[in-house]
Amino acid sequence: MNQEFVQAERAIDRNGFLDMEVDPTLDLAAEIEQLKKEKNAIILAHYYQESEIQDIADYIGDSLGLSQQAAQTDADMIVFAGVHFMAETAKMLSPEKKVLLPDLKAGCSLADSCPPHLFRKFKEKYPDHMVVSYINCTAELKTLTDICCTSTNAVQIIESIPEDKGIIFAPDRNLGAYLVKKTGRDLVLWNGTCMVHEIFSNEKITKLRMRHPEAKFIAHPECEAHILDMADYIGSTSGLLRYTRENDAQEFIVATEPGIIHQMEKASPEKTFIPAPPNNTCACNECPHMKRNTMEKLYLCMKYELPEVTLPQWVIDQGVASINRMLDISAKAGL
Ligand code: 13P
Ligand code: SF4
Repeated sequence: MNQEFVQAERAIDRNGFLDMEVDPTLDLAAEIEQLKKEKNAIILAHYYQESEIQDIADYIGDSLGLSQQAAQTDADMIVFAGVHFMAETAKMLSPEKKVLLPDLKAGCSLADSCPPHLFRKFKEKYPDHMVVSYINCTAELKTLTDICCTSTNAVQIIESIPEDKGIIFAPDRNLGAYLVKKTGRDLVLWNGTCMVHEIFSNEKITKLRMRHPEAKFIAHPECEAHILDMADYIGSTSGLLRYTRENDAQEFIVATEPGIIHQMEKASPEKTFIPAPPNNTCACNECPHMKRNTMEKLYLCMKYELPEVTLPQWVIDQGVASINRMLDISAKAGL
């Protein structure tokens, strides 16, 4: 094994990513393009990634779009510019492919909030219930799940289940509460939240709206109910993006991770997008996990084909059905 590779593996063990020097004069976008061709690799990026990464990606999308792409790509290598659960989902859908994540520590507070060993006990209390899990959960949690959902298809997934069947919904209590309201179903909720979406300030948003009376206020369903109650529109990242394209308003206050604003500005350059303020003075509505990925890490990850996301075979075998059921229901619903 060559020395450089050994060094690279050690760096990952320490930090979760390759913390190697990158020549600052390199044109990283050009290098990454070249590596894509050489390795027949595809870069899938979530809307919350930094703008430069979005611009180099082959596909940019929400969690549903990203899993649909991961299931159907004929690339040999999937490079996931997103967080760990997304790369795991890609691995489950395409186990024969190499799946890379620029930083293995790009996690998710929602996934972390639902440890499988605790969820297993919780589930035992409701033996007749089905489990619907938001895709923002670990691969192991998916082995305890009947059907996954994303914020784009959650309503359709819940409505696909017979009305007399009890449902446990995990791990996001805010999306769960929104679904209870939207579908009228009595869901048993796991008590997890997204650290980014629970930080918006009702008071500051109200003041901002007074200063921008014509602006539409749009929010992701991971936000708390008191924020969603104020919204003109609630939707997944792709739903929010579509709304800003199709709505005649010229100003939008956006309550989700501000990475999405890059695509909103590209699609509607004449419109103004204002990130909804958090309840403190820092930029806490940026997802610290999503933002762990950088162009340097992306370049190194493609060059050395590390870090790789792997899963035990039993996790793939027992977990993938929950994702495939979600993809089937979504396809039937035209999503
Ligand atoms: P969507 O892009 O599917 O709406 O999900 C948002 C999110 O928080 C992803 O981590
Ligand atoms: Fe997880 Fe929230 Fe970050 Fe999405 S925005 S990856 S749900 S912590």
